Amino acid sequence: MSTRTPWWIRIPLLFFIIFGLMEYFIDSGEKPAIIEYPITQFFLLMVLLILIAIELILSSIENVMFQTLSEEAKERYLASKAKKREWTWVKSIYKRLTKTKEIEKEGEIILDHNYDGIRELDNVLPPWWVYLFYATIIFAVVYLIRFHVAGDYDQKLEYEQEVAAAKIAIEEYKKTAKDLVDVNTVEFLSEAADLSAGEKIFTTNCVACHMADGGGGIGPNLTDEYWILGGGIKNVFNTISEGGRDGKGMIAWKQSLKPVEMAQVASYILTLGGTTPADPKAPEGEIWVDPDAPESEETIEETPTEQVSDSTDVAMN
Ligand code: HEC
Repeated sequence: MSTRTPWWIRIPLLFFIIFGLMEYFIDSGEKPAIIEYPITQFFLLMVLLILIAIELILSSIENVMFQTLSEEAKERYLASKAKKREWTWVKSIYKRLTKTKEIEKEGEIILDHNYDGIRELDNVLPPWWVYLFYATIIFAVVYLIRFHVAGDYDQKLEYEQEVAAAKIAIEEYKKTAKDLVDVNTVEFLSEAADLSAGEKIFTTNCVACHMADGGGGIGPNLTDEYWILGGGIKNVFNTISEGGRDGKGMIAWKQSLKPVEMAQVASYILTLGGTTPADPKAPEGEIWVDPDAPESEETIEETPTEQVSDSTDVAMN
């Protein structure tokens, strides 16, 4: 009975073991179970209360039993309890790991030279240190065999694997996060739902200057093939997001529109191309040709011949 650890160790220890087991067994995705499922907080509270209740019951049982003892037995019990409170096992482990000599016994290990009263003890290396040293040797042997003899994997492979895994994770993320378009990734959205959403955004925000049919007013004609700031989905998206030239009146819409909304309205504008508005504004800017469109042979020839390669030239490109 008296070998028990004190309650203030037992309760937290059991509590955190149960907490740990719970987190381990409940599959709660990214977040810890205690946040994902608030009911577990209630469960833990119950566990804590039950642990405290058990402690109280045990101590009262102990108390009752103590009262039934004879005077002599009571004394013996108290004495043994006081003794066991000492942390004998911790002390013995500590002693075994340091192997220090008690000051009284230092005479046994003192060396016989003496420099002006300064003398030297022949202490052994502390075992904790020696064990660590052995551990590093074992680690080194395993490491050597695994990576230099068997050639398990190297930094480059590890890097490539991580990049590949990250790319998959990014793709997964993009599927759920439609808002994640920017000028580099934006594509023409051909779905009817996106285009009608784009039309709605256009009617609410843009018709004042570009007219309902895109024929132009304060802003330029959006239906012709002349563009001041460049045509094609990427340029149009960029113009909408960042605004036109200073002082012209076309503001940066990224303040008020979400990326996906800008992609929708940009796609809608492109569908206006080639239509004939009621009162078209005269063309401004230049005819825009898509540099990515493969039309003539000359442009295809212009592939870069010089390849720069260095140690960082891996999986990413
Ligand atoms: C206050 C008037 C005004 C409003 C509102 C406005 N624009 Fe403009 N927009 C302009 C002007 C002016 C320009 C020309 C900018 C320049 O010359 O730099 C322009 C240019 C553009 C261009 C580039 C045209 C080209 O030839 O390169 C696009 C695309 C465009 N606007 C789309 C939109 C969209 C989409 C909206 C609504 C979300 C919108 N604009 C709202 C005034 C406006």
